[in-house]
Amino acid sequence: MQVAVLAGGRSPEHDISLASAAQVLRHLDRSQWQAWPVHLDRDGTWWPRRSALPAAAAWQPLDRSLAIGPLRPGAALDWLLDTAGIEVVLPVLHGPNGEDGTVQGMLELYDVPFVGSGCAASAVAMDKLRTRHALQVAGVPLPRAYEPGGPLQTADAALEFRRLQAEIGTPAFVKVDASGSTVGVQRIETEAELAAFFTTFRGRFRRWFAEQQVQGEEITVAVLGNTGDELQVLPPVGIYPRCDSWFTHEAKYRPGATEEVIPPRGLGPARLDEVKALAKLCHETLVCDGMSRTDMIVTAAGPVVLETNTIPGLTETSLLPQAAAAADLSFAALLDRLLRLALERRQGSDRARVAAG
Ligand SMILES: Nc1ncnc2c1ncn2[C@@H]1O[C@H](COP(=O)(O)OP(=O)(O)O)[C@@H](O)[C@H]1O
Ligand SMILES: [Mg+2]
Repeated sequence: MQVAVLAGGRSPEHDISLASAAQVLRHLDRSQWQAWPVHLDRDGTWWPRRSALPAAAAWQPLDRSLAIGPLRPGAALDWLLDTAGIEVVLPVLHGPNGEDGTVQGMLELYDVPFVGSGCAASAVAMDKLRTRHALQVAGVPLPRAYEPGGPLQTADAALEFRRLQAEIGTPAFVKVDASGSTVGVQRIETEAELAAFFTTFRGRFRRWFAEQQVQGEEITVAVLGNTGDELQVLPPVGIYPRCDSWFTHEAKYRPGATEEVIPPRGLGPARLDEVKALAKLCHETLVCDGMSRTDMIVTAAGPVVLETNTIPGLTETSLLPQAAAAADLSFAALLDRLLRLALERRQGSDRARVAAG
């Protein structure tokens, strides 16, 4: 089958997406899936490769001589569907303009099957505040939070620090509404640090909130499957940053900066079952499809959820492929499963359409 692999995008996580896509293309079983890489440039233009990637070749996104472009997204999709004969799309995009429902909405309009969650689930999961609200209703345990009434644009550091201090105390984690890869998440202890956070993100994001610092063991739990069908919860992974006390951007992306252990060190069988059930509940509550990876901190009193990612990192050493490997699912088998789940979801929606007449 012909599969378009979308990489890059208008997101601070552009380079991480390219790294993920390169590995996805390396591991994809090319005897089954003909891969058509598409580079989504930072300026919003799309550059599909002129021909499918030869089986043994690595992908060079910046080699424009092999690509068509610059194209607007719709024109690129027209070409991919009409000329390349694409049958399914694999978005390997992280963060805004890719993991947030925008690209997913367009793919839904084009009626082409694609890997991962749909438009609405992607949009809610990308927004940490809306995620909190959805999960709270479902009874998912969350860190205590301070949610300010006003927008980030006009937030006053002195006033907000006093309120935050009174409601949840410090140190606290302050977050903008739509962030990822720890861009827009900061640990603060002082009013000056809150003021600096406002200055950095004002104008780029609309809302912010703060969470009480939770002490415990940080873990992440991935789930495979479409909501409504049988789900597979992968083995939980413990995350132990070596350089920082929390999972900072550096801890995430500098090789060797974080130790990842399966299963997490301090969790007995009952806790493992509990966190797996929680990851499944988050996947279902947000109505995720294909895959999700829920970040949690396990305190002495039990787990609390930080967020659910709908397109987790997909390099060989990323957490989801590692968790899959621990469940005897190779990277190639994981990608195969994700593409088949995309096709199955499409069949499900076709059946629903027929039933509705
Ligand atoms: N309430 C909290 N208490 C303790 N640590 C936190 C809290 N919120 C976030 N963190 C730390 O910050 C990291 C990034 O936060 P997260 O909400 O997962 O955002 P991102 O989208 O950047 O991954 C987490 O992996 C964790 O190490
Ligand atoms: Mg996270």
